[in-house]
Amino acid sequence: MKILVTGCAGFIGYHVANRLLREGNQVYGLDNLNHYYDVRLKHARLEQLQNFEQFYFSPIDICDGQALSSLFEHSGFDRVIHLAAQAGVRYSLLNPQAYIESNVHGFLNILENCRQQKVQHLVYASSSSVYGACTQMPFSIHQNVDHPVSLYAATKKANELMAHSYSHLYQMPTTGLRFFTVYGPWGRPDMALFLFTKAIYSGKPIDVFNYGNMKRDFTYIDDIVDGILKITNKIASANLSWSGHNPDAGSSAAPYRIYNIGNQTPVALMDFIHHLEEALGKKANINYLPLQAGDVPETFADIEDIQRDVGFQPQTSIREGIKKFVEWYQSYYADEADMQATPPRVTGWAQPNYFHPPTKLSPCEKDNFTQFLIENSAI
Ligand SMILES: NC(=O)c1ccc[n+]([C@@H]2O[C@H](COP(=O)([O-])OP(=O)(O)OC[C@H]3O[C@@H](n4cnc5c(N)ncnc54)[C@H](O)[C@@H]3O)[C@@H](O)[C@H]2O)c1
Repeated sequence: MKILVTGCAGFIGYHVANRLLREGNQVYGLDNLNHYYDVRLKHARLEQLQNFEQFYFSPIDICDGQALSSLFEHSGFDRVIHLAAQAGVRYSLLNPQAYIESNVHGFLNILENCRQQKVQHLVYASSSSVYGACTQMPFSIHQNVDHPVSLYAATKKANELMAHSYSHLYQMPTTGLRFFTVYGPWGRPDMALFLFTKAIYSGKPIDVFNYGNMKRDFTYIDDIVDGILKITNKIASANLSWSGHNPDAGSSAAPYRIYNIGNQTPVALMDFIHHLEEALGKKANINYLPLQAGDVPETFADIEDIQRDVGFQPQTSIREGIKKFVEWYQSYYADEADMQATPPRVTGWAQPNYFHPPTKLSPCEKDNFTQFLIENSAI
């Protein structure tokens, strides 16, 4: 099968492309290799993928409609797995434009090209963050998610709405996957596990928000990839019992589906830190802080629908997953002199005068900003 994976130099995209290639598929990958985090990690992931003969990479920005159309026209994809996006909740408070560009404008370009080229199935990344102000646990795809608490979440919810309109208008099969805090080898440097590992190694304090009273439904990367591939093979279909009088939020009379992909096991942040300390053989020095704007204190996925429809079953415990991440981190950074080094700590995430990122960051500004981000993010 000929499959396009957008965001293939990213954390999840890299793993998805890798697994598809190992299974003998022809994989086209695209990525704009932006500087949201250390671009060397993106290049290193790409290097791994370049080892496969059946891998073709295009350094394209999904906001570049012309380049994207010509890729679609010349390649004729059977399926599209759309993972390219501006990720991260906190950065959306600082650079909201980046989210509208990649996640809304870019997503429209993906929809349009899938429509024009009659792609059999578009699978795209949504997020657990769409549950926003919802507190009813576990989070179910059948509940209303009209109350996002960050612009990032709003763009992911917008993607689901945009996909529905295309599924309805053009009978175009689309499936949105709400990922729950994905972690594992080759993970994102702006996420808690990476940040904590780096800080604990170098004896620096870790920032723990909401005074440690957080829970996350952490999902190991291999489990996520398994779910994505299972869903990609199950082309979205209409729910024949769907009714506009009592509309189900997770399906439609159009070929449109939404699923949660999580571990269905929320882990307390302090337990997560203890597992990490165990894997590293080192104690963390904790800096307790209040809840950050845009964050939610708990996530918990109801995965009944994806279990029923494709037999998705997460296999990896948090202890085992953290151990695998730490093993990767140690081998990946083994030769890097900066493994132990931590740049000067910047305080004042919430101080409005500290940093005003321009709408368009130059590469140099982006690098500085990435550093700032890494120093100020956690779970
Ligand atoms: N990692 C998680 O825990 C998580 C949770 C929920 C949702 N998601 C979603 O899953 C998807 C993948 O996330 P990830 O963790 O791999 O993030 P990532 O940042 O590692 O990967 C995204 C990739 O997309 C690329 N990209 C961004 N904007 C682009 C554009 N305009 N054109 C082309 N390429 C572009 C980036 O360079 C990056 O390599 C994203 O849509 C993200 O919002 C991730």
